[in-house]
Amino acid sequence: MKSTGHCLIASLTPFHSVILKNRGRFSSNFLYGSTSKPRTLCAYHQKSKLPSTSLMGAERYPPPWFSVAPMMELTDNHYRTLARLISKHAWLYTEMLAAETIVYQAGNLDRFLAYGPEQHPIVLQIGGNNLENLAKATQLATPYGYDEINFNCGCPSPKVAGHGCFGVRLMLDPKFVAEAMSVIAANTNVPVSVKCRIGVDDHDSYNELCDFIYKVSSQSPTRHFIIHSRKALLNGISPADNRKIPPLKYEYYYALLRDFPDLQFTINGGINSIEEVNEARTEGAHGVMLGRAAYSNPWQILGLVDSAVYGAPLRSITRRQVLEQYQVYGDSVVGMYGGLKPSMRDVVKPLLGLFHANPGNGPWKRKVDAAFKHCTVQSSSLAP
Ligand SMILES: Cc1cc2nc3c(=O)[nH]c(=O)nc-3n(C[C@H](O)[C@H](O)[C@H](O)COP(=O)(O)O)c2cc1C
Repeated sequence: MKSTGHCLIASLTPFHSVILKNRGRFSSNFLYGSTSKPRTLCAYHQKSKLPSTSLMGAERYPPPWFSVAPMMELTDNHYRTLARLISKHAWLYTEMLAAETIVYQAGNLDRFLAYGPEQHPIVLQIGGNNLENLAKATQLATPYGYDEINFNCGCPSPKVAGHGCFGVRLMLDPKFVAEAMSVIAANTNVPVSVKCRIGVDDHDSYNELCDFIYKVSSQSPTRHFIIHSRKALLNGISPADNRKIPPLKYEYYYALLRDFPDLQFTINGGINSIEEVNEARTEGAHGVMLGRAAYSNPWQILGLVDSAVYGAPLRSITRRQVLEQYQVYGDSVVGMYGGLKPSMRDVVKPLLGLFHANPGNGPWKRKVDAAFKHCTVQSSSLAP
């Protein structure tokens, strides 16, 4: 990707702007390759300090250095169990759960909210646009002991942002997001955070992003924002295309670090290796969140997090041991919700990436696939 030399003119808000030159090495090298030229960025600065509670909140809550992103149909209990076998320190986010699902399934909550105690630290992500349901959903989730509640302001799926009118569409209504975050925070005693994009459609200037961050953080207890550093397009492209067509603009993320020093920001989007995680942290990122790479290549990503990011001693666990422990888990959960749910396919799916890019990866996947077809119990098929 080449530098386009953006100049972000602060013109849409009452805040003053200054011109900064030569944004950090990470944003230029990592995003544009080492040949990129220094770029000029017209930065946005907070006119005044956030309310004093923000300082307390930010101090109380350093965000996770490394986290695995919420991903629908991927970061379920099965994947999180596998992830925790590999990394003890990575923070794990759930798939997004709509507040309405929690409220309407109040008699069946374990199915949606229960998880093994070893999965801590774990964050519940909720979505919605109804304050009453967000309040109730947070109350109902509280006994499950999540370590943080995250509010989805980044999902572009037509079902969510279109018909559902929540997810990334909420970035256009920061006042509502502030109300939602206040309601969520009032119903939990754990930290709350927002996961958002850098903009929506042509509402994609740095000033508009700052306006969102400023309003949400000054009108609610939100002190931590996870920034998926590309905008969302609500023109009907698929969610998958919305994760690759809009360009990544890490310079927005780094400008937020500079312009909102009282807040905490996690960078997300397009980060594919532990080297890139550490490069982002060296450049000042408070936290780094990986989605697709952590799912498709769990061993080489999560297997390095504890030592290379958190400085813990290298563990000597092997993939065979991980598989053996995961097999015990699999045997205990297949069919636990009646019928064949969860199915063997559900349980085995997270294992498909365990040998990503290694010799034998093809035969491994074929063997797992064959097991899907012939086996209904776990133990007969997973023996390595
Ligand atoms: C299959 C899939 C499902 C996703 N579901 C969610 C979700 O439920 N909530 C959310 O905030 N983001 C969701 N995302 C977006 C990711 O959290 C993340 O922001 C995005 O993939 C960019 O990070 P990456 O480049 O490291 O994958 C999803 C992404 C994928 C690939």
